[in-house]
Amino acid sequence: MHIFDAISERRSIKAFTDRPISREEIEQLLSVAILAPNHRMTEPWRFYVMGPEARAGFGKALGLRKAKRVDDPDAKVAVIHKVEATHRDLPAMLAVAMTLDENPEIREEDYAATYMAVQNLCLAAVALGLGSHVKSGAVMDDPKARQAIGVAEGERVIATIALGEPAAVPEAKLRRDADELTTWAP
Ligand SMILES: Cc1cc2nc3c(=O)[nH]c(=O)nc-3n(C[C@H](O)[C@H](O)[C@H](O)COP(=O)(O)O)c2cc1C
Repeated sequence: MHIFDAISERRSIKAFTDRPISREEIEQLLSVAILAPNHRMTEPWRFYVMGPEARAGFGKALGLRKAKRVDDPDAKVAVIHKVEATHRDLPAMLAVAMTLDENPEIREEDYAATYMAVQNLCLAAVALGLGSHVKSGAVMDDPKARQAIGVAEGERVIATIALGEPAAVPEAKLRRDADELTTWAP
């Protein structure tokens, strides 16, 4: 598959089929994720492949956070169960973490590099006929979420990636033309 096609066809996939994702497929994706550029070869990325139990634990942690915005006690419980089940039922999910250098400049570069690894993985997924959905947010720092992931102390979780065979591929979102956002310096 041409790289331009993989980039154009990638979407954040919200619904997956029941087709299981094999360890080999995930290993293939990780083998190209780690080819991302990284200053000083810090290789800051760390990958946590989450099984059903870990996914459910993460979903519960996220559900508990979402439930805080719900008043009705039954509705609260329903939210928690729903988010837990949605995560458990995913074909595959990874958490991506980064090492935290003491030097803030290196830390910032390492954050950028780790997201480049995330993008490599998402584009490679397209080439394998798979879909991905990258998510981030405050739940990344939630102790219950971190525990579910099993992330090592001193690492920062920067993203989760849901993976699977797309059940539906959304239309491309409208984006501003690159021309509008580009300045050509003389
Ligand atoms: C750093 C980052 C965080 C994201 N977090 C979320 C999220 O918490 N929930 C979500 O539904 N999508 C999340 N997304 C996906 C974006 O919403 C999505 O990429 C955007 O709407 C464009 O759609 P597309 O990926 O299909 O082109 C995240 C994407 C990035 C890069």
